[in-house]
Amino acid sequence: MCPQFIGGAGCMLKISHVSRRFGNKLAVDDVTLEIPQGQMVGVIGRSGAGKSTLLRMINRLADVSSGSISYGKVPVSTLRGQALRNWQRDCAMIFQQFNLVPRLDVITNVMLGRLNGRNPVLNLLQIFTTEEQLHALKALERLDIAATATQWAQTLSGGQQQRVAIARALMQGPKMILADEPIASLDPRNAQIVMDSLRDINAEGITVITNLHTLDTARAYCERIIGMAAGKVVFDGTPDELTSEVARTIYGADGLKEALTSTAIAPIAPRVPIATPTA
Ligand SMILES: Nc1ncnc2c1ncn2[C@@H]1O[C@H](COP(=O)(O)OP(=O)(O)O)[C@@H](O)[C@H]1O
Ligand SMILES: [Mg+2]
Repeated sequence: MCPQFIGGAGCMLKISHVSRRFGNKLAVDDVTLEIPQGQMVGVIGRSGAGKSTLLRMINRLADVSSGSISYGKVPVSTLRGQALRNWQRDCAMIFQQFNLVPRLDVITNVMLGRLNGRNPVLNLLQIFTTEEQLHALKALERLDIAATATQWAQTLSGGQQQRVAIARALMQGPKMILADEPIASLDPRNAQIVMDSLRDINAEGITVITNLHTLDTARAYCERIIGMAAGKVVFDGTPDELTSEVARTIYGADGLKEALTSTAIAPIAPRVPIATPTA
């Protein structure tokens, strides 16, 4: 069954001895991880630890230098052409800087999540079906920002823009969401809304892997925490297992102070399931 169905038994993201070099720099160094479908994983570590590179290799925005990545039977790290585009649809990415088209209305930004797999001419003309428009509106409603649908994206607050980016990701009908520091540019209130949204999406069976700067946010939201230092995984466990001693190994003494003093947030909203638009 795997990987056609979300949460399919045995659907595992396998990262096997993956390394990534940039010139002499080993950004990711022999990382091996298995992430079952539906987990909510926080990746923590100092700046430069290799967190973004790891996420980018899963999404294939970056290629591995050695090792392999697979998802069920999908050989992620060697995909080409349409198969690669299909994977990038299944594995939506969210960025710190939202990456919306600023002078395009919100609903069109969300519908851009559907470009892959559509008729290229319709894409060029930005013609969307009524069904697609309804899906997009529904995704915006789930994130409580449907009222902004006709505004230019650039007129929204950062927190609203990140929610638009999540709605756009949901339009892809993803099996997995990779979020690279999704709350690093947000104030605490908006950070909390965005993290609550990711957690609710995860409750629907979508794997969420998110790089986070703040230790306590990772603790509050993620069932599994992966700590990276100098390209290597130096911790992989539950929030309870992440003792202050382990945190010092991940961040170093100086980094730990910063990771702890960055504004921490915790969930307030109950875990409300978010229905994802079907492809
Ligand atoms: N495109 C690139 N070219 C050269 N070096 C890079 C590139 N991307 C990342 N690096 C280097 O790889 C290391 C890990 O970077 P990154 O994955 O961005 O870490 P993090 O997200 O944990 O801050 C850093 O030393 C960074 O400078
Ligand atoms: Mg990064």
